Amino acid sequence: MKAVKLNPKVWVLHADIESKDLFEGIWPIPEGVSLNSYLVKGQKTALVDLMRDWCSAPEELKKQLADAGVDLTKIDYLILNHLEPDHTGWLAEFKKINPTVEIIATAKGVELVKSFYKINDGLRAVKSGDVLDLGGVTLCFEEVPNVHWPETMATFEPESGVLFSCDAFGSYGKLGNRVFDDEYYAEDHALFEEESLRYYANIVASFSLFVKKAIEKLVKLPIKVVAPSHGLIWREKPQTIIDRYLKFANYMEGPQEKEICVVWGSMYGNTRLALEALLQGIEDELIPYSIHRVPDEDVAFVLADAYKSAGIVIAMPTYEYKMFPPMAYVLNMFERKHVWNRQALRIGSWGWVGGAKKEYEAAIAPLKWTSLESIEWAGAANDAVLTQLREQGRELARAVKAG
Ligand code: FEO
Repeated sequence: MKAVKLNPKVWVLHADIESKDLFEGIWPIPEGVSLNSYLVKGQKTALVDLMRDWCSAPEELKKQLADAGVDLTKIDYLILNHLEPDHTGWLAEFKKINPTVEIIATAKGVELVKSFYKINDGLRAVKSGDVLDLGGVTLCFEEVPNVHWPETMATFEPESGVLFSCDAFGSYGKLGNRVFDDEYYAEDHALFEEESLRYYANIVASFSLFVKKAIEKLVKLPIKVVAPSHGLIWREKPQTIIDRYLKFANYMEGPQEKEICVVWGSMYGNTRLALEALLQGIEDELIPYSIHRVPDEDVAFVLADAYKSAGIVIAMPTYEYKMFPPMAYVLNMFERKHVWNRQALRIGSWGWVGGAKKEYEAAIAPLKWTSLESIEWAGAANDAVLTQLREQGRELARAVKAG
């Protein structure tokens, strides 16, 4: 990959990560992820965001800086919009190579530089409204706390309207040699849209109220390019990713898409067989649904569909007097990621004795779900239960339609 010139003063540098390592130690990245940095050249030189030593990303960064005619030792300022180690993991090594660099972050960010990397000199704390003059180009800082950690800020280059937005407006998905939105066909954009939803649901969703506040603040800037720290750089249609993030933030409370996310687990097939009747009921009402088996499918993918869907089905057996354990994890993740205000239905079988109900109801209490009456049965579902399940599937689909 090569450094790409965005305009006479700004270069895009990025490393594509293709790894079985989990992002944040939790989330699979089968489509990869890009770590984006930006070089801004005036009389002085700034690097916006760094990288982690992951899949040789620092080597890629050095090579691309050379493409742009800059050596690491010649960078005057390192701007850290956010301290999460995917953007800063290589900081201690970088500082050894370039000990005179001035590191710029918010006050909380500066504290994190000290605690993560034990670097105590050459630090400058900035706040909203502060400006850095590079000579011929300026950079303005805007704090956007809790998008998604407290110290986060965005950096704006007003002359060409480039917003270095950090994780905000980011996505999973590697870039290869095409970094701009206008270099991709519609089918590629469909994948990036999916991967931006999954990124949002996995990484950002808990902070949706702050995302909305940040967008309110940032859209007052004359933005012409959105340059996030992961994923596509939006130079042709920057409003697309801003609108998309606003839509995602609004999924938390609603409205969501008129779809149903079905999450199921089954020990010996009794819950799975009965689920077919419920799905038939949803199909009767022509409401689209996604379906995920746990624990076979990773919760990262379950979250993405659940986060956008107005309806949720939880189908699981009782296990040792409680919920099927992988479903307990999924519901815990729904609570953490604020999958709120849904139309919901729980179904499931029990063998020796029931018990999932009590634990389930406690788990969903914080989620503000509107629940249809649950259906439980002993062993294999009989015809009466199957009829009831189909009708309850219709009922849920009608509630989603009406919502
Ligand atoms: Fe991409 Fe929150 O780091």
